[in-house]
Amino acid sequence: MKTKSSHWGVCAGLALIIFPLLGGTLFAQGTQLARTPPMGWNSWYAFGCKVTEAIVRAQADAIASNGMKAAGYEFVNIDDCWSGKRDETGSIHPNERFSDMKALGEYIHSKGLKFGLYSSPEAKTCGGFEGSLGHVEQDARTYADWGADFLKYDNCRATQDKIVAYERMHQAIMKTGRPMVYLLCLSTDMDRVWRWGATVGGNLWRTTTDIQDKWESMALVGFGQNGLERFAGPGHWNDPDMLQVGNGGMKLEEYRTQMSLWCLLAAPLISSADLTKLTPALLALLTNPEVIAVDQDPAGIQGCRVAQEGPLEVWMKPLADGSKAVGLFNRGHYSANPVTVNFRDIDLGEKVSVRDLWAHKELGVFTDHFEATVPNHGVVMIKVKNTF
Ligand code: GLA
Repeated sequence: MKTKSSHWGVCAGLALIIFPLLGGTLFAQGTQLARTPPMGWNSWYAFGCKVTEAIVRAQADAIASNGMKAAGYEFVNIDDCWSGKRDETGSIHPNERFSDMKALGEYIHSKGLKFGLYSSPEAKTCGGFEGSLGHVEQDARTYADWGADFLKYDNCRATQDKIVAYERMHQAIMKTGRPMVYLLCLSTDMDRVWRWGATVGGNLWRTTTDIQDKWESMALVGFGQNGLERFAGPGHWNDPDMLQVGNGGMKLEEYRTQMSLWCLLAAPLISSADLTKLTPALLALLTNPEVIAVDQDPAGIQGCRVAQEGPLEVWMKPLADGSKAVGLFNRGHYSANPVTVNFRDIDLGEKVSVRDLWAHKELGVFTDHFEATVPNHGVVMIKVKNTF
């Protein structure tokens, strides 16, 4: 396969130089938060503007009891469409689908989970609900009072300088004294947010328009992340949007591809399905500990593409213990194909041990390269390390 060793150099090398700089004291709000990519749930793709308090409580119950919490999922995030009117003091209140946001926050916390909210720097959110324009500090105080641990700040139809607007909310959050993971969502006009997101306290920033629950969309977004790896690291992550796993528009193998690719990308793992309706097979995709460990690896290095032959791609993510996670992907539509990783392309020696992460199986020691047959739209995900 044609290799792209220069990408590998960026993926494993330059990133290591940039991370400590960004992880220092420079960006106070983000420094201690999200040291590994955030994991949780968000209401948007399964429920859109039909989200209710009862739905959010049921999703929290599901995460706490179905194995997801044990696997590392912790945020329960309400997306757009929760906000209602302001009172005479300017305080924001939820709309009729929510009764008491503070009580909801307490309920989520009582399950050992964290509570996330959504707003916009503009007068209206992307869905046309009340945004924070003119009330930024007041709203941040309200979110803190409700116990929010996460804020997605979404910017459709921007009328203001984006950097100024995002920094304003960053300062407002810091003033509350309550740490909140801060997601910068510039879904329509990204303005290369990965270059400035960390400077305004962003812990994660969307790198793409909205992902759809379709193979074409997911593949375009996921495989299109190559080259952004140098902007990610502990405390500040690229966000290629949420996991569609379980929303029904893709086959199991395609969802496995999304999960594998997102973990190799050190992407936030935010499920956006109805968690009360997951089949055991889907739940297994979301909770495989060896695959999640790749995403949550403490070195926090975003993986990148190291080889490509038409629709066949090899991606690699260096891990803290010196081993590497590798994804062998077949983006072809019609048939299974062999995909090969050459060990020299990922800076490994001649003899390499290979473990299949989805199957939890040692495959043995291989010389020079490893090859597997990968189903169409599918993946084989392995962990490889030198044997001495
Ligand atoms: C934008 C965002 C989505 C979602 C909707 C809500 O499209 O990118 O993730 O938050 O707004 O209106």
